[in-house]
Amino acid sequence: MSVEHVLSAEQYTRDQIDEICDRSELFRQVYDANGSQPSSLTDVYTNMSCVTLFGESSTRTRISSANAAAILGMNVVHMAADESAMVKGESPKTTAMTLAAVGAHLLVVRMPFEGIAAQIAEGSKIPIVNAGDGANEHPTQMFLDIATAKRRLGDLTGSRWVMFGDVGHSRTLNSLVIALKQYDAHATFVAPEGMEPSERTLHYLEKHQVSWDLQTNLEEAVIGANALYGIRSQKERHGGQKLGAPIILDQHILDKVPADAIIMHPGPHNIEIAPEVYDDPRAVFAEEQPRNGLHVRTALFDKLLGSRAFNAIMESEFAQPAVTDLVSAVCRHAGVDN
Ligand code: NCD
Repeated sequence: MSVEHVLSAEQYTRDQIDEICDRSELFRQVYDANGSQPSSLTDVYTNMSCVTLFGESSTRTRISSANAAAILGMNVVHMAADESAMVKGESPKTTAMTLAAVGAHLLVVRMPFEGIAAQIAEGSKIPIVNAGDGANEHPTQMFLDIATAKRRLGDLTGSRWVMFGDVGHSRTLNSLVIALKQYDAHATFVAPEGMEPSERTLHYLEKHQVSWDLQTNLEEAVIGANALYGIRSQKERHGGQKLGAPIILDQHILDKVPADAIIMHPGPHNIEIAPEVYDDPRAVFAEEQPRNGLHVRTALFDKLLGSRAFNAIMESEFAQPAVTDLVSAVCRHAGVDN
């Protein structure tokens, strides 16, 4: 049986993205009903092991990945890249093979090198999840961003997104724009000098025929927007250069943001988000995005490992509303009453 990996947003159709978002809602219901604790329904991969191998700092991705694996009943072992045998010259690929040999069943990996997750996945016997590879991609963040937007906005078809900040060096943005094409969304970029969309991002936009434009004034760009997406200055990718002054979302700009729009940010939040934005009811970055990240990663990891938890939920009372909706839809399409 071939092993499935999560390496790039390019792997997924709209239906596949929507499926993970839907599954994450079921996992949320079970988790919430169990008092924010793993439930016996989802606790199905006991005696299996998830390793988080991180060579870059992380709060949200690392801990939500670890907790998602724990919700599924797995043992979670963290290994910081600089404490591993990689310090002694072992390659990431050999490291991953060794981890599988010593009992890992799932490997969540973050490294500062573009394409490293795909290299590790070649020939890997266990699923590899790309939790960020340099400035390239961050596909699990894409799932949680889309899940968050869908929960608040509903159908994303034709939605208008304003991406502001360091859009030139952001892997979360690269993964998100690939998915936005699936919803025929429009992306407007507003960037400080030197942080405009990179060659790589332009390549993605062209390859996936994403509708986009570049503007200079955030205050004007937010008019008519459905979603704002802020990105901190990715200084670690500036090669020591001092680039343009940050663009800051503050009360003055907030006043121009439509009442039904949402304000997103993958985190960590820096100066580009003024303190008053945190309390705005349109802001979803402080709690909703990270929380959705937990449920989306639970759904993704379960799918990679054979959907045992999802199948258990589908046979339980939690699936009843979903099953009822499905039966109604089938009957509607068949022109019969149910
Ligand atoms: C981002 C990352 O590491 O790519 N954060 C995250 O995983 N939620 C964004 C960033 O570092 O700015």
